[in-house]
Amino acid sequence: LNSVPEAVDAIRGGEVIIVVDAEDRENEGDFICAAEKATPETINFMLSGRGQLCVSVLPEVCKRLELLPVVAQNDAPLKTAFMTPVDIREAKTGITASERSETIRRLASPDCTTDDFVRPGHVYPLLAKQGGVLRRAGHTEAAMDLSRMAGLAPAGVLCEVLDDSGDRASRDGLVAIAKKHDLKIISIEQLIAHRRVSEKLI
Ligand code: 5RP
Ligand code: CA
Ligand code: ZN
Ligand code: ZN
Repeated sequence: LNSVPEAVDAIRGGEVIIVVDAEDRENEGDFICAAEKATPETINFMLSGRGQLCVSVLPEVCKRLELLPVVAQNDAPLKTAFMTPVDIREAKTGITASERSETIRRLASPDCTTDDFVRPGHVYPLLAKQGGVLRRAGHTEAAMDLSRMAGLAPAGVLCEVLDDSGDRASRDGLVAIAKKHDLKIISIEQLIAHRRVSEKLI
């Protein structure tokens, strides 16, 4: 795997990286990039993971945009926090890589408002914990933290990576995909450890 600073540099440059969570958690690898850097090309590439493309945002964004939890009671095992799906108002259908990248970039913009979006749409915001991976060791928080650590808007895009059979891509499979596409790959455990040390929490 790569180092966290290498991953943060890649995120700052608008690159897609792979982030794996703990083997005893989802044991999944997600493609991740910074929301403000999302382009039609990066979103098109991330969709090749064939997971669910989502964008993690902070509570203040959900409040400002009136994004509500999609269900009143979250029964999902890991409480993944799906919020009202949206499209940018100018979108024709909202599903293309280009339109989704516009929706995502607008969501990351600090001055976006409810009027910028129609609902329901095709981009799923996920509510990230303010404290990031130190509060919850999920891809939602990892995508937000990496963007914030890169000095960008604290919002990240994520999409799980499946293998050719449609199963979760294995750790070895993810390393091979990283090598093939020249992507950095890190784990959420590394990110937690890095933050603890660099923020002098241990
Ligand atoms: C949304 C998901 C993904 O697994 C995504 O990685 C966010 O979930 P989490 O923060 O729990 O890892 O289910 O498609
Ligand atoms: Ca999940
Ligand atoms: Zn995940
Ligand atoms: Zn998932």
